[in-house]
Amino acid sequence: MSLKSKVREAAQILKENQVPLWLFADDSLFTLERKKLFSKVWAFVGHVSEFDEWTYLQRYIGDVPVIITKHQGKIMGFLNVCPHRGAKIIREDVGKGEILRCPYHGWTFNMEGKFLGAPMQRGIYQGVDTSSFGMFPIRCETYKGLVFCTIDSNATLDEFLGDMKFFIDIVAGRSEGLVFSSPQRWIVRVNWKTIVDNFIGDSWHFLTAHGWLGEVGLGIQDLKLTSITGVIRVKGGHGVLFTGPSADDYPDIPRPLFYPLWWPNLVEKAKVKLTQREFDVWKKYGTYEMLGHVFPNMAFGNVAYTIDSEPPVPILTFRLWRPISTFETEIWTWLAFDKDEPENLKKKAIDTFLRLFGAAGSVEHDDVAMWESMTENSSKLSSLNLKLKYYGGMNQSPTQFEGPGELYYGGNNEGNTISFFKEYLNYLEGEELDDM
Ligand code: FES
Ligand SMILES: [Fe+2]
Repeated sequence: MSLKSKVREAAQILKENQVPLWLFADDSLFTLERKKLFSKVWAFVGHVSEFDEWTYLQRYIGDVPVIITKHQGKIMGFLNVCPHRGAKIIREDVGKGEILRCPYHGWTFNMEGKFLGAPMQRGIYQGVDTSSFGMFPIRCETYKGLVFCTIDSNATLDEFLGDMKFFIDIVAGRSEGLVFSSPQRWIVRVNWKTIVDNFIGDSWHFLTAHGWLGEVGLGIQDLKLTSITGVIRVKGGHGVLFTGPSADDYPDIPRPLFYPLWWPNLVEKAKVKLTQREFDVWKKYGTYEMLGHVFPNMAFGNVAYTIDSEPPVPILTFRLWRPISTFETEIWTWLAFDKDEPENLKKKAIDTFLRLFGAAGSVEHDDVAMWESMTENSSKLSSLNLKLKYYGGMNQSPTQFEGPGELYYGGNNEGNTISFFKEYLNYLEGEELDDM
């Protein structure tokens, strides 16, 4: 069967609340994703707080390296491709300076990508117009301090984020701004879409894959309560997941996210900074976790977890699943702090984060083991056309909701993965599939 027919058939299977297993890690998809998905979306690359004047960073759109610079307050993006022979202009992930110089023949650019010169250029380029020798630019924009870039999107960033801005505001617009750590990065042998499936709406696995946390008194205090979830479907393949019961069912939990215990001033600040609806949603549903997944491969998590038998500590992280190959993904995690966050809370958040999450944390390896097995099965058995059941909550109706999108409260609704894959296939479909 041609790839085009397979993609069309997959779209039909999604309508039955099933996901073809091959969609996760079939080898034929990787090049297609680079060409038709990642080059067309607005990709998250970092936060304005990571830049001082003259800082430049190497970041990625899908698996394509890009250079992000800051010059005179303006953040700009370029492909990390030298216009001379196509070599990478920078090798380092972060640097500081007034110029960028390609290591191959020494073409040199300023931070706005303009060609400044090359060794012995006077003789070599005598009479040649060098004005077109600049670095290849890409579009860069920010929303609430988050930096997004696109190679070739038809939409504005505003249109691309759509209703997801409501939820981004809650984490990135509730205070005087955020300060990001440098990213923690680690490579796992999984396809990036198995992580999306988890972050966009799966809290069911807490009871099983992470069940041991409850037994040893780590993580969330009452794992059973986390099975009461609110799954929000946001147009554009985005999704949000709130775990824990809402304030209607369990009013006594300090909401949002135990901040009233650790930092009541943030809640007061957020009342002013957020719209009434945004604040109400955060306060009502922000119990243990508020996870947002921005299409296609970025997530954020404002979660409250417990270590050392203390009340849960609120932590804010931003995530990126950088595809390296069909079978490898680099997980990026930034720990973020609201400006003026008290030092004791910062210390607690760092400690809680390091002990539970990331490369050395005790929680995420549970998930990675599952994602590895999904990836392996998907790639080995792609010819069998196996269909996975995403029937959880399929007969549920949306609940009355103060925010945008459709809220499915309780019942572990599994539909967010379906809507992610529908959007994913919208990008992949098209006549050019015949040529691939
Ligand atoms: S490839 Fe960059 S200077 Fe030649
Ligand atoms: Fe998990």
